[in-house]
Amino acid sequence: MDKNSKVEPVTAKPFIKWAGGKTQLLNELEKRFPPKIIRTKRIKRYIEPFVGGGALFFHLKRDYNIEESYLFDINKELVIAYKTLQINHKGLMDKLSEIEDKHLQKSEDKRKEYYYKIRNEYNRQMDGFDYVNYSDEWVKRTSFLIFLNKTCFNGLFRQNQKGEFNVPFGRYKNPKIHSKKNIIGIYEALQDTEVFCGDFTEACNYIEKESFIYLDPPYRPLNKTSNFTSYAKNGFNDEDQTRLAQFFKITDEQGAYLMLSNSDPKNQDIHDEFFDNLYNNYNIERITAKRNINCDASKRGEIKELIITNYLQF
Ligand SMILES: C[S@@+](CC[C@H](N)C(=O)[O-])C[C@H]1O[C@@H](n2cnc3c(N)ncnc32)[C@H](O)[C@@H]1O
Repeated sequence: MDKNSKVEPVTAKPFIKWAGGKTQLLNELEKRFPPKIIRTKRIKRYIEPFVGGGALFFHLKRDYNIEESYLFDINKELVIAYKTLQINHKGLMDKLSEIEDKHLQKSEDKRKEYYYKIRNEYNRQMDGFDYVNYSDEWVKRTSFLIFLNKTCFNGLFRQNQKGEFNVPFGRYKNPKIHSKKNIIGIYEALQDTEVFCGDFTEACNYIEKESFIYLDPPYRPLNKTSNFTSYAKNGFNDEDQTRLAQFFKITDEQGAYLMLSNSDPKNQDIHDEFFDNLYNNYNIERITAKRNINCDASKRGEIKELIITNYLQF
């Protein structure tokens, strides 16, 4: 490299809009990072057991020096997308450009037809799909996932009990399916990173003293009809939240820095002490946040969010 050339920081945004994505909470989270990390801007090992769209991970990659990262999620569609971005981001860019061109050339009615054609193919492809061994099929499936995410109603990922993607077509004037610059940024951000499909407890094997672990599990539903916790076929119930509190305690004892976010059940019931009891040995803060994905517009708005850490912020 030319010795005068500047090394540009990695700048990437999530490649997918994900229910519970934390883009709007980044500033609040960052203010509460471990003081040593704020001071040094260095993270030796970053671990995110519920990575979703990775809003915090990509943000950190821009402003912090992270030596190595370990990302986990139980959603296999999401995980093959991350891995495809690591293995063949160029192939993915080509495929996305092809789909984008085809889509944008069409009239609105034809775009709708095209959307359902891709959605059907995406759902049919699931049968017998090899989610373990990489093949060119991963590129195709990931391009479909991104296309559907960018053109579906409300831009989110939702599966039915069978695991099929079931969001209807959304009307957008000129949807941008992807940006080459961002795909390259994501590819770069994913260097020195390992991505795993599995339960959050699998992260246990990678924790070291002073690892920074950000935990953003599915929300405890605000009310019984709210179904935005169903990211994967299996939900995340109170038993899982309790398992997570045990994981928190064990990793705390290993000397890791832990930060966890969740919705505050007190939004619904002021007497609900569920998280206060689970995390009574740790620091619990309540902050105001905007909830962005809810199909009922009247339910969008400001709510309290919990941020729990095992360290003090000064
Ligand atoms: C609130 S979202 C994370 C959002 C993420 N912070 C972002 O910015 O997009 C929770 C994630 O946990 C994943 N998940 C659900 N159950 C899980 C489990 N048992 N182990 C690991 N991941 C799980 C879901 O697939 C979902 O992606």
